[in-house]
Amino acid sequence: MAEKYFKYVIVGGGVAAGYAAKEFAAQGVKPGELAIVSKEAVAPYERPALSKAYLFPESEPCIHSMFSSAVIVNFYLLPRYSQGTYIRINFTAPARLPGFHVCVGSGGERQLPQWYTEKGIELILGTEIVKADLASKTLTTATGATFKYDTLVIATGSSVIKLTDFGVQGADAKNIFYLREIDDADKLIDAFKTKKNGKAVIVGGGYIGLELGAVLKMNNFHVTMVYPEPWCMPRLFTSGIAAFYEGYYANKRIDIIKGTVAVGFDSDANGEVKTVKLKDGRVLDADIVVVGVGGRPLTTLFKGQVEEDKGGIKTDSFFKTSLPSVYAVGDVATFPMKLYNEMRRVEHVDHARKSAEQAVKAIMAAGKTVEEYDYLPYFYSRSFDLAWQFYGDNVGDSVLFGDNNPTSPKRKFGSYWIKDGKVVGAFLEGGTPDENKAIAKVARLQPSVESVDQLTKEGLTFACKI
Ligand code: FDA
Ligand code: NAD
Repeated sequence: MAEKYFKYVIVGGGVAAGYAAKEFAAQGVKPGELAIVSKEAVAPYERPALSKAYLFPESEPCIHSMFSSAVIVNFYLLPRYSQGTYIRINFTAPARLPGFHVCVGSGGERQLPQWYTEKGIELILGTEIVKADLASKTLTTATGATFKYDTLVIATGSSVIKLTDFGVQGADAKNIFYLREIDDADKLIDAFKTKKNGKAVIVGGGYIGLELGAVLKMNNFHVTMVYPEPWCMPRLFTSGIAAFYEGYYANKRIDIIKGTVAVGFDSDANGEVKTVKLKDGRVLDADIVVVGVGGRPLTTLFKGQVEEDKGGIKTDSFFKTSLPSVYAVGDVATFPMKLYNEMRRVEHVDHARKSAEQAVKAIMAAGKTVEEYDYLPYFYSRSFDLAWQFYGDNVGDSVLFGDNNPTSPKRKFGSYWIKDGKVVGAFLEGGTPDENKAIAKVARLQPSVESVDQLTKEGLTFACKI
């Protein structure tokens, strides 16, 4: 079997891998020194697009888009009978590769496959590593080929938790979907066509649940969301924040069933899902089911070979693991969060990009000093014409400010989290770029607050004057 050697190998070909390649190139990696080995068949892309613009229907009127320059392909002049005049409407096409290869999501150069060729970086796609022997610095593929390296960067990301993992009855029926990779999204798009205007049940009220609820509705499905908690996205949202999104979704005619879980699925003679059985006894008709019940960092290949912490691979501030020649970045890394003096793992794209850059700077430092990673958590989501950003830590007491009436045309609201008399986290729906910068600054600087009432009254003004 073939054996190849590279000075640097990145295992995994997602967001962190793509941004690591960018930094390796910036640091002057020589042709032939670096390889990326990825299970996926396409070059690294901005994964967040998969639950948003990738699943848009063909002609969705554009309010705003994360990938606006790459996605807005047409500016049609459409005849619309509106008091005898023509009106112009902005239309988007769904995002498609090569439009959203990294690093367009952060305003960087779009790294097409030829970018890797030009830099002499070997992109080994459609190749799963099934064994990693870190002692002999050898990776083995599913077909038995091996790669040797001097330095390894683990960027394997997360896999989805499946209902079959808990033995939920009938959960292996056809048309029950999960979303992690572009192949999963393509399967969903096929089902949008074959089950057109049908009934969709979404299991889970987190990121996938809320973003998929919106795109399924935009694709004209009748959507029901089911989740066990008293409100959506409980790991970040307070009940006040969640009330806005639940109200907004209800106004879009999305049905929400809370406080229960799916305990079984029935399928038809073709093995296609037909109904979802809930623990509270209700039975929902379903043409398709989308499940988003969380992710799991993909660390299995390295079990027992590197130290782990909080479910991830333990690293230092330079993303070096317990083995000096092995680094771990993105979703899989549990790293020191300097701001909170705590080891944490983060499953969001901003950290995937920045941790990759930090690790490569450290790998290529050649005696130069690299500053410690000092990460400010940043999460965001978009659905329908909504867009929120969150910075910092959601601990302590919280206050809600602004107009959070889901039917208000001027809606803009947010929350601060206060711990030990300091504002440690800030959330904002509908912020302008400057307002979002202001809440990020608050979360970073952690200003003291004298009165919580005053903070509630001042709302966004508090952040804008910091
Ligand atoms: P990522 O998952 O990007 O890449 C891992 C890669 O490793 C994949 O290509 C995989 O195939 C490959 N791989 C795994 N095992 C392998 C093996 N054994 N051999 C070879 N290859 C292997 N975040 C955010 O902040 N805002 C957002 O809007 C979104 N939206 C969003 C939508 C969807 C649908 C998902 C699934 C996730 C998000 N996220 C997000 C989260 C964000 O995308 C995520 O945190 C990053 O992609 C993590 O980057 P990584 O490179 O660590 O993993
Ligand atoms: P999540 O952790 O955000 O949400 C999981 C949800 O599953 C919980 O909120 C709960 O409502 C629900 N749940 C748990 N067990 C359940 C059960 N038995 N039945 C029904 N519901 C159950 O995870 P996710 O939404 O699946 O997202 C997966 C990964 O993708 C995460 O890493 C996430 O960060 C990432 N992602 C991020 C974004 C974003 O940042 N905008 C968008 C999409 C995906």
